Amino acid sequence: MKLIIMGAPGSGKGTQSEFIVNDYKLVHISTGDILRSNMKAGTELGKQAKSYIDAGQLVPDDVIIGLIKDRLSQDDCKAGYLLDGFPRTVEQADALSAITEIDAAINLVTDNEKLKTRFTDRRVCPECGLSTSVKTCTSNVCPKCGKNLIIRDDDREEVVTKRLQTYESQTKPLVDYYKAKGLLKNVDGMQSVENVAASVREVINQL
Ligand code: AP5
Ligand code: MG
Repeated sequence: MKLIIMGAPGSGKGTQSEFIVNDYKLVHISTGDILRSNMKAGTELGKQAKSYIDAGQLVPDDVIIGLIKDRLSQDDCKAGYLLDGFPRTVEQADALSAITEIDAAINLVTDNEKLKTRFTDRRVCPECGLSTSVKTCTSNVCPKCGKNLIIRDDDREEVVTKRLQTYESQTKPLVDYYKAKGLLKNVDGMQSVENVAASVREVINQL
């Protein structure tokens, strides 16, 4: 199975991806996670991506498309994968459809004005990438690998505002793009984490 999970920043893509890849034995491919681990390792890609990420802008399409082509050609992807945070522009979506067909694009529908507290509450693990919230994880230690949790650099208020604007102008058009292809599956992303997960499972089980 080849799936996309899409939605605004903070809509819950990473959170739901954890459940989906475990339940359906898919490879989780998050372009945001790949870029952050390159930033942490100080690679050329990481250095290039940092200025865009810090400004709440998208990393250029040619860079991301090259990265995804390389990732999808690896052996572990043969069993199926979940794309999280890719595609994010029509150009990226066209590039993906030239590589492969997908089974569905699951779109987490959110009221973006009400998402702001999700960014202030979010804590992430710099080691394993786990994303959680102070509302559900009261300890400052990653429940998965034991490292200290941190606040993501791009969760500062001014960057969040820009990320949400970037989403509206460059990524939201993909909702109509996948609707036109008959692949769009809308899920209410304002429900509790558990209820979103149940709705997502319902969608996948009907594919
Ligand atoms: P990326 O890492 O993809 O970030 P994003 O799309 O902005 O989304 P987030 O990761 O912030 O949110 P999420 O939807 O995963 O929500 P989460 O589950 O964590 O991209 C970062 C940057 O990299 C981009 O800005 C761009 O610069 C660059 N980039 C990445 N991909 C790119 C591409 N393809 N092209 C170009 N540039 C690219 O949840 C958020 C919080 O809410 C958590 O604390 C969570 O616990 C909580 N939460 C989740 N669900 C719920 C719920 N139902 N109820 C209450 N709280 C919830
Ligand atoms: Mg994410």
